[in-house]
Amino acid sequence: MKIAIITGASSGMGKWFAAYAPAFDKTIDEIWLIGRNEERLNATYQHMKIKSRIIPMDLTKAEEYKKFQIALSKFRPVIRMLVNSAGYGIIGPFVDMTAKDAGGMVDINCEALTRITRDCIPFMSKDSCIINMSSAAAFMPQPDFAVYAATKSYVLSFSEALYHELKAKKIRVIAVCPGCVDTPFFDVAQKYHGVKTYKKFFMSKERDVVRQALLDVRKGKKVSIYGLPMKLLYAITRLIPNEILLWFM
Ligand SMILES: NC(=O)c1ccc[n+]([C@@H]2O[C@H](COP(=O)([O-])OP(=O)(O)OC[C@H]3O[C@@H](n4cnc5c(N)ncnc54)[C@H](OP(=O)(O)O)[C@@H]3O)[C@@H](O)[C@H]2O)c1
Repeated sequence: MKIAIITGASSGMGKWFAAYAPAFDKTIDEIWLIGRNEERLNATYQHMKIKSRIIPMDLTKAEEYKKFQIALSKFRPVIRMLVNSAGYGIIGPFVDMTAKDAGGMVDINCEALTRITRDCIPFMSKDSCIINMSSAAAFMPQPDFAVYAATKSYVLSFSEALYHELKAKKIRVIAVCPGCVDTPFFDVAQKYHGVKTYKKFFMSKERDVVRQALLDVRKGKKVSIYGLPMKLLYAITRLIPNEILLWFM
């Protein structure tokens, strides 16, 4: 059985990865949809055009994650695609955040992503792919978005390194780094503070970002950046030292 595993499939970009996965890789027989909210996972499931399985779980809870590990060893699938889209970010000064909110970002964006990637690689074959949702926030440190930006830098660095490690096995790895995308992400993100107004000018549509990411996987890219403004930001952050950029911001 050849499968795609999509975390964060109950919302936003994860939902679109689930929708596009069967067309992207026609060998996929089944899609595993992961998220905490069973009702919203069900809504994604209703729109699926191929056989799908809902796995409701909190990826940061060891006892719930065990269910996933058991499913892997029971079915022993070939994993053609792993999309790590589960994640969240909270805007605001670090000191104003509860430890739970700040640490939670590290737990889901970094630790859970790393663990599931580690567990899935042994089930992958030539031409399988790993799609990790990073962010344009990864490009430089972001005061008032400090933990989130740092977690996404981790995802970017981890994915780029893995791209090279898995090249010999012909497993593709990509970090997806969009700017702001119009999803329910901001319902959680704006818990303490609103998003900066200038960022709203660069808001993208979720399906466009996902389409671009899948095209970039096909092209064998290691980083997918949607839209000219974010491509420019990426180039600028490679050229200009962080100190100058932070002063300017
Ligand atoms: N929207 C943006 O502007 C933007 C920009 C750049 C990067 N990103 C990144 O893109 C990814 C997808 O974000 P999105 O915009 O699609 O946001 P979203 O609509 O809020 O989706 C986030 C998904 O993560 C799942 N999730 C969160 N915590 C989880 C946990 N502990 N266990 C299992 N699932 C969990 C949520 O499902 P449940 O609530 O059902 O658990 C939801 O399906 C995230 O990693 C985000 O950081 C977003």
